[in-house]
Amino acid sequence: MKKLLGLLLLVQTLYAQTTLPYKNAQLSIERRVQDLLGRMTVEEKAGQLNQLNGGVFTGPAANDAGQQAKMNDVKAGRVGSMLNVIGAAETKAVQKVAVEQSRLGIPLLFAFDVIHGYKTIFPIPLAEACGWNTEAAEITASIAAKEAAAAGLHWTFAPMVDISNDPRWGRVMEGAGEDPYLGSLFGAARVRGFQGDLSEPNRVLACVKHFAAYGAVEAGKEYNTVDISRVQLWNKYLPPYQAAVNAGAATVMNSFNLFEGVPASGNSYLVNDILKKQWGFKGIVVSDWNSFGEMIAHGYAEDNKDVALKAIQAGSMMDMETKAMVNHIPELVKEGKVSMALLDEAVGRILYYKFKLGLFEDPYRYSDEAREKANTFTDEHRAIARKAARESIVLLKNDNHILPLQSTQRIALIGHYAKSKEDMFDFWIAKGDANEAVSLYEALMARKTGMVTYAQGYRPDDKPDQKLIDEAVKNAAAADVVVVNIGISGKLAGEDRAIAMPEIPAAQIRLLEALKKTGKPVVALVNAGRPLVLTPIKDLVSSIVYCWILGTEHGTAVADVILGVHNPSGKTVMSFPYAVGQIPVYYNYFNSGRPSATDPAGNWYTRYRDIPNDPLYPFGFGLSYSEFKYSGYSISDTVMTKNKPVTVKVTVTNTSNTDGTEVVQLYLRDVTASIVRPVKELKAFKRVPVKAGASVEVSFTIEPGDLAFYDSYGRQKTEPGLFKVYVGGDSKNVLEKSFVLQ
Ligand code: NOJ
Repeated sequence: MKKLLGLLLLVQTLYAQTTLPYKNAQLSIERRVQDLLGRMTVEEKAGQLNQLNGGVFTGPAANDAGQQAKMNDVKAGRVGSMLNVIGAAETKAVQKVAVEQSRLGIPLLFAFDVIHGYKTIFPIPLAEACGWNTEAAEITASIAAKEAAAAGLHWTFAPMVDISNDPRWGRVMEGAGEDPYLGSLFGAARVRGFQGDLSEPNRVLACVKHFAAYGAVEAGKEYNTVDISRVQLWNKYLPPYQAAVNAGAATVMNSFNLFEGVPASGNSYLVNDILKKQWGFKGIVVSDWNSFGEMIAHGYAEDNKDVALKAIQAGSMMDMETKAMVNHIPELVKEGKVSMALLDEAVGRILYYKFKLGLFEDPYRYSDEAREKANTFTDEHRAIARKAARESIVLLKNDNHILPLQSTQRIALIGHYAKSKEDMFDFWIAKGDANEAVSLYEALMARKTGMVTYAQGYRPDDKPDQKLIDEAVKNAAAADVVVVNIGISGKLAGEDRAIAMPEIPAAQIRLLEALKKTGKPVVALVNAGRPLVLTPIKDLVSSIVYCWILGTEHGTAVADVILGVHNPSGKTVMSFPYAVGQIPVYYNYFNSGRPSATDPAGNWYTRYRDIPNDPLYPFGFGLSYSEFKYSGYSISDTVMTKNKPVTVKVTVTNTSNTDGTEVVQLYLRDVTASIVRPVKELKAFKRVPVKAGASVEVSFTIEPGDLAFYDSYGRQKTEPGLFKVYVGGDSKNVLEKSFVLQ
């Protein structure tokens, strides 16, 4: 045995001496990267910076060269990564070309937008955040990664952590809502879920996007201008990116927008100064789809050579779909405009992750058809999707306890969206198949509770149709309760899905008006990837359930909620505007110098003359079948010092006879500061199960660090003075205490 071991060691040592250092897995990754860089031509280095689309188009097709030309580029070592090549067999075939036919055999990285599931589609991330359950989000991300990794993918372009206050923007569905603190927790959880420690081929590289402040696009219009201050950047937009980077995100994607007049892809302040220097980010920076090339249209670069120079100088590196890097870096190096050190730094980061993922040892490690079969769309994954979907649902109104429905009730189910499976999916569905999803109609029929009838009720294109209304009214008249599934198409949620009027379509309002006249209780279930203006329907119905877009288990989860199998506990993470003209409306606004009031007798107020200041439903709001009362709010001390944090306690009592879960929220206000602070800022929360009739004491400890904010240089400050601390079940209805930081 000893002899055998000795022999093995000898073979290993001899192998290490004879193989090239970059192929020697015994050496450190850094050493291997350096060795490989030393063997590469400038052209091959520039090739590593090139990311080509190899499948479906998730951006404009303008630059596409065709599959044969792309494979020739792979052979020539002119490609470092491909996006949208998907599936174990497909990725294996393309990888084979890179590994066997290019001079150095450097494997490719395969990337894809696995935003909220690969084949098992989870709720849209905005909805999932309404569960306020970051552990659950980590789990769904890990399953998305597991399914994607088995299909040969190394890298997902998620999580998107852009803060947005604008439901006109179609991409609000991809983030965690309007709050930077909650957004930070979800961003970090999703990174952990996607990546794990990257040691096994069941996780993928995460990509924090879009850096930075894409969510601030003017008027919610896609790809539009952003113009915000550095104070806003640091305090509102950057925290989630930073949290995700701190959680170990391997990659970050540039955004399309400007910051201070410079496109993000060429913005040295964003990439070099903040991301790399201040945050110490060591991973890959990838452009968005042709966002390098778009610097020309912005009016910031002259041509693609200028683009390559500006991008690399700003600290950006991998070029998705512009080919500026691969085509122009070699001449820029020759001309002495780009140093070899700068190029090596960029390429080294990409090679690092190829080594880290074990692709030099086994380039086909991720492309495993057996694993792909076994790991995809399993019952276990679907059960988790159902749980996540239930937790995402937000109950906005429930007069007279109409919900949950009773098993003996005759239900008139109405609405195109109750049956339309493709609308349970949004724009980002990876390899999800809507036919495999469960609609509400199917879920209700399968439960065989009381009688259920179905009528379409309205046309999805919003054209008036009295016949559909008449049929729905007839069914309603014969039922005990009317359940109407309204909203907008799931396909309006995602990139390039901005809408100017996030409202309930007119034909649906007419339907609800007709149904109200039947005198039957009406439950409205609303599907949408964004908050819609619900003001016109609020008084037409008894209950409103905000279902969002929930993916594979959409129908099952909604049925669970309305039938009372699951008691809703979701709280909205975006304010619901009272009217479109109120957008952007958000809870963490700043006081003006004038009272923010709507008192008709007063004058000179910060207000609209025609609508209230408040949103229809505030951030953090959501009802339950239980009822929760807050009492006994106390604070441990009215003075906080560096060594003495303050603890607040509150008792939450479930006064109903239904067990439930309440999301208890804590907000702070820094009353006077050198930079004005918002009227409230979420700083902590707890999901608290409370049994029927029981009380639970909930406590939060606040430390001086929780009181910090950023100045315009990105320096964190904590200033002494008066702070208010609020606790409650949403951002508006809160109890108040205060303390002074000494
Ligand atoms: C453009 C989108 O903005 C980005 O989020 C996505 O990852 C890329 N296209 C690739 O599909």
